[in-house]
Amino acid sequence: MTPVKPVVRHYLQFNDFTREEYAYLFGRTRWIKAQFKAYQRYWPLSDRTLVMIFEKASTRTRLSFEAGIQQLGGSAIYLNTRDSQLGRGEPIEDAAQVISRMSDIVMIRTFEQTIVERFAAHSRVPVINGLTNEYHPCQIMADIFTYIEHRGSIEGKTVAWIGDSNNMCNTWLQAGEVLGFNVHVSTPPGYEVEPERAGLHGTGHFRQFADPMDAVRGADIVTTDVWTSMGFEAENEERLRDFADWQVDADMMKAANPEAIFLHCLPAHRGEEVTAEVIDGPQSFVWDEAENRLHVQKALMEFLLLGRVNP
Ligand code: CP
Ligand code: NVA
Repeated sequence: MTPVKPVVRHYLQFNDFTREEYAYLFGRTRWIKAQFKAYQRYWPLSDRTLVMIFEKASTRTRLSFEAGIQQLGGSAIYLNTRDSQLGRGEPIEDAAQVISRMSDIVMIRTFEQTIVERFAAHSRVPVINGLTNEYHPCQIMADIFTYIEHRGSIEGKTVAWIGDSNNMCNTWLQAGEVLGFNVHVSTPPGYEVEPERAGLHGTGHFRQFADPMDAVRGADIVTTDVWTSMGFEAENEERLRDFADWQVDADMMKAANPEAIFLHCLPAHRGEEVTAEVIDGPQSFVWDEAENRLHVQKALMEFLLLGRVNP
């Protein structure tokens, strides 16, 4: 009899999960977070090993995945391009074969989305996208969980994205399609969203605005990110000039819904994409947002390795 090959699921972009699966994951996140806050030990992943591969810098992603797997009873191994064979041209397919024979789950932060896709295609274990040039799904899970915690359901609400149409923006756009909320984007000319690169299906949840004030009007979440993402440093000077009018400030927050919250994935540059008044002000939830990386990713790893634990 031919053995049945287990189905391995990956999390490479936001639309890898359905709306119903996110409802489950956010419920699990709430429970896992409560256990953590109550100092309750929860070790469903004891003896499981997470390999984390970083081809770009990180503080939050490394910390939240490493702390997260340990808190679930497992352990983490950190690899980077500089001191592994990945930086010396070993094919990603070969790396995937080897790494996935020695571990239970893999997280990768890298450049092109095709790299995580090629890795996943040759991996025996679940692969998680820890940020690519195109997407940052774990961050958007944390952002949405933060909104739900403080304001309730995100369905039908409006997210205003101000600035670069980068990995964060693309992922918000996908999330709008999956979870049924609107995303209003304002970018400088020449930096507009590329719907195909964002992986959109044209469900009508995305609108583009030339003037950032029009994008934030009545919004429930106002959010932005650095003007120069990792890998684009050569364009920094030009971007500082091009994005100067796309800074989130107090006037923009006033134009939004009075209950609007401000989010930023961090690291932030005060005085560039956001004023200190906004990011350090009463509508900002960026520290909860950063902490929630830990909790959503614990729910994510549990789901990818164990499936639903409380159906
Ligand atoms: N937001 C985020 O992913 O932060 P790091 O680059 O520090 O991981
Ligand atoms: N857009 C940023 C996010 C950093 C967490 C980058 O890719 O550098």
